[in-house]
Amino acid sequence: MAVIADRCPGIQVTVVDLNAERIAAWNDPDLAKLPVYEPGLDAVVVRCRGRNLHFSTAVEAAIADADMVFLSVNTPTKTKGLGAGQASDLRWIEASARTVAANAQGHTIVVEKSTLPVRTAEAVQAILGASSPQAGSNGAVPTFSVLSNPEFLAEGTAITDLENPDRVLIGGEDQEAIDALAGIYGHWVAPERILRTNLWSSELSKLTANAFLAQRISSINSIAAFCEATGADVREVAKAIGTDSRIGSKFLQAGPGFGGSCFQKDILNLVYLCRHYGLEEVAAYWEQVVALNTWQQHRIARLVVTKLFGTVTGKRLAVLGFAFKADTNDTRESPAIRICRDLLEEGAQLVIVDPKVGAVQIAKDLAQPSIDQDPLVQGSDDCGGWKMAGSAVEAATGADAVLLLTEWAEFASLDWEGIAAVMRQPAWLFDARARADASAARSAGLRVWRVGEG
Ligand code: UGA
Repeated sequence: MAVIADRCPGIQVTVVDLNAERIAAWNDPDLAKLPVYEPGLDAVVVRCRGRNLHFSTAVEAAIADADMVFLSVNTPTKTKGLGAGQASDLRWIEASARTVAANAQGHTIVVEKSTLPVRTAEAVQAILGASSPQAGSNGAVPTFSVLSNPEFLAEGTAITDLENPDRVLIGGEDQEAIDALAGIYGHWVAPERILRTNLWSSELSKLTANAFLAQRISSINSIAAFCEATGADVREVAKAIGTDSRIGSKFLQAGPGFGGSCFQKDILNLVYLCRHYGLEEVAAYWEQVVALNTWQQHRIARLVVTKLFGTVTGKRLAVLGFAFKADTNDTRESPAIRICRDLLEEGAQLVIVDPKVGAVQIAKDLAQPSIDQDPLVQGSDDCGGWKMAGSAVEAATGADAVLLLTEWAEFASLDWEGIAAVMRQPAWLFDARARADASAARSAGLRVWRVGEG
């Protein structure tokens, strides 16, 4: 929405949320308090806020004023009830649609921006259509057009992805509504990049794009394990296959598995829908992409234990990076969570460094307070614990191993001589992202494991 406001100065954009604290943070003059860390976002907010970008809790009034409403609420995987663990929880979409139905005036275009299961637009249309027709202030009964306009931006590169999209996808039936939305993107996106489909193709394209991207990561990670077993190097293999223009070079970086709020959720949703339509083999095919991803994370934790003489109980391990990828403060489904939990279970003492993720978030993700907050855990050999450090050297002091789990740029140029000097020997570097300078670490006397290197 900030980018739309930036590119379309003639359009008033109001972002509304029920969460007053969040809206206050978006309005805070201190840009460090914006709720989302995203390179370049602060500059866009500064340019537009108060001009044609507004953040407000006045949900109903903003809907009444709007010609177009973007439903951008979250749709996490259901944790209980029918479809638990796979289906998307649509309660917030439904609640939003009901709020729109109750407050819209005149003709309103309702745009599904959240990632949704195929045919959700049907439910949204039904809710909007069933609202008791109340004449608005001008005496007209409200009417609606529903469009699907999924988002393909990736975190960390969101602003450039939005400013130069590969494509914009608009699904719908009402040509006038489609033209109106295409007109907004037309301020900065070439017409041939604005694709128009029917509603269901648009909804399904979003799930399919994420499923294909995630599948590439599981595929390369499966080959990484095979490389480690056979003496091949997964980066050489990735380069060799990536130069085939039919395969392409992107999304072939082996690592600790994909994280983020979308890939796993969207594939599980796809799996659920396939089963619903009786397509068991198709469901099983996609389910394996997630299973391989989970396996990769457990595999990395297991090999750390194995290489450290079969036990990490009471040992100090430095963890570099906790976010699910670099340049974001997001930890949702971060591979670091599962790897750290496995090591805590084994009794390790973890010292974590991340440039953007703080202790409160990590405590939630690991479901236990840090050692600093809970000194009872300290000193107990059997019980794993964690705390944060301000630098890699501080984290590595007295540690038996350094685990690199997120590919932050600063981890590429660490002073391995200095780090090795403060570690307990023999010391290891486990580089799950192949980001560190492995030869410098080896020259400093460390033993090095890199993902996908045989
Ligand atoms: C992903 C998609 O890339 C976006 O197109 C989509 O819009 C978004 O989900 C969404 O549905 O909202 P995002 O999750 O932000 O974006 O980040 P990605 O760059 O796709 O990375 C996802 C995970 O895959 C990260 O943990 C990353 O480290 C991992 N990854 C990515 C690899 O392990 N190897 C790669 O080669 C690429």
